[in-house]
Amino acid sequence: MRQVAIVGVGMTKFGKSEKTLIEMGAEAAMEAINGSNLKPKDIQGLFVGCGATVVEENQTIIGGFLADDLGIAGIPAPRIESACSSGSWAVAIASMLVASGHFDTVLAVGVERQTVLSTEFNTRMMGSGVHSFYESPTGLSFPGVFAMATHLYAHKYGIPLKRLKDCLAKVAIKNHKNAAKNPKAQFQKEITMENYYNSMMVASPLQLYDCSPISDGGSAVVITTADIAKKLVSKPVHLIGVGYSSSGSLCGQKDFTRVKARETSAKIAYNMAGTTPKEVDVAELHDCFTMAEILAYEGLGFFEPGEGYKAVERGDTEIGGKIPCNPCGGLKAKGHPTGATGPAQVYEIVKQIRGECGPRQVDGAKIGITDTMGGSFAAIVTLILKKGW
Ligand code: COA
Repeated sequence: MRQVAIVGVGMTKFGKSEKTLIEMGAEAAMEAINGSNLKPKDIQGLFVGCGATVVEENQTIIGGFLADDLGIAGIPAPRIESACSSGSWAVAIASMLVASGHFDTVLAVGVERQTVLSTEFNTRMMGSGVHSFYESPTGLSFPGVFAMATHLYAHKYGIPLKRLKDCLAKVAIKNHKNAAKNPKAQFQKEITMENYYNSMMVASPLQLYDCSPISDGGSAVVITTADIAKKLVSKPVHLIGVGYSSSGSLCGQKDFTRVKARETSAKIAYNMAGTTPKEVDVAELHDCFTMAEILAYEGLGFFEPGEGYKAVERGDTEIGGKIPCNPCGGLKAKGHPTGATGPAQVYEIVKQIRGECGPRQVDGAKIGITDTMGGSFAAIVTLILKKGW
C-alpha cells in the first residue's frame, strides 16, 4: 500500500443555494483542483458521494455529467450512496484505490441539494435510512431515532433528563459559536441557553437547536500519493487511517447508546494509523443531532461510555479544550447537505492541520479525525489525517 496524501480541498458555502448539484460539485472541485496546483486533466477518477439526487433533481449517473462539466468526460466516475456518509465513503474508496496503485490522482466529491424539497419530504426521504420493512411502518424518522437515543442514554446512566438537556444545549451553543467564525457555515450566529429552551419541540426531548438543518452544498478532496504530493504543494496532509463498518436495522442493535459500527470503524482506522484517541488534536464528528455528538465522543474513544456528557459540562470539546470537536460548527450549525458532509469534514481537518482556520483555529493541530454516520447508526466511516511536512 502506498502512503496517500490530500493536496487540495474545496467546498461551497452551505445553506440554501440556487445552484444545481453539478454546479455545486464543480465549484467545490475546482477550488480543490486549483489548490492542488493541478489541472482537471490530471484527475484519473472521480468518486461522487450523494444520497438523493434522484428526488432532488431527477438525476442519476451524476459522476459522468460532473466529469464532463470539469472537461474530463470519459474518466471513471461512479456515484456512491450510503445516506449521510456517502461523501466519506467516496473519499475512503478513492484513497484506497490510490493506495493500491490503481490510480495516482483522484477526486472525491460530495453534493446534496435538499432545500428544493419540503421539510416533510426531506423527513420522509431521510427516513429511508431506516429499514423499510421492519422500521418505516412505525413512522420512525431521524429526529425520532435520536430522541430515543437521548432517553435511553439518560436512563442507562441514571442522568436526570434536565441535566442531559443542559448538556445538549451546550453542544448546540458551542457549535453555533464555532460556526459564527466560519464564513462557509449555514448559520453564522451564536445562540444562548434561552434561545435553545424557547425553540420549538421537534421530537421530545429534542428541540430545534438539537437538529442539524436542511441544507444545500458541495465539497471536494484531491487525493494522490505522498510522493506526488511533495512535488505539488508545500503542506500535504497524509491520510494515515481509514476505517469503515456497517450494521443492520435498529431493532437488531442491542444498545444504540453504544454505536458498535462506529467502535469497529474507529478501531480499524486507529490500527491502520498506528495512533490512539489520546494523540488526536482535533475532531470533526457526526452531530446530526446534539445527542449524536456525545455518542460520537464515546464511540471514538475520547471518553468512556457514559462519560461524554460530563466532557460537555467541563468544556473539554470546545476550541481550547482537551479535544476540540467540530470547530467548523459541525453538522448542527455549518449545515448538513448529507452527501457533502464527509468531504467537508475532511476540508476542515486539512485546513486545521495547515493552520488556515483563523479565529476557529485549534492551536498546533497535527493529527485530526473525521467521523461520518449514515442511516440509523448504520454506515460509519472514520478517517485519520496527519501533518505531512
Ligand atoms: N437549527 C437552527 N435553526 C434552524 C434549523 C436548525 N436545524 N432548521 C431551521 N432553522 C431556522 C430557519 O433558519 C428559520 O429561521 P428564520 O425564521 O429566522 O428564517 C426557522 O428555523 C424556520 O425554518 P424552517 O425551515 O421553516 O424549519 P422547519 O420547521 O421546516 O424545519 C427541522 C426544522 C428541525 C424540522 C429541520 O431542520 C429538520 O428536519 N432537521 C433534521 C434534518 C435531518 O434529519 N437530517 C438527517 C440527520 S441523520
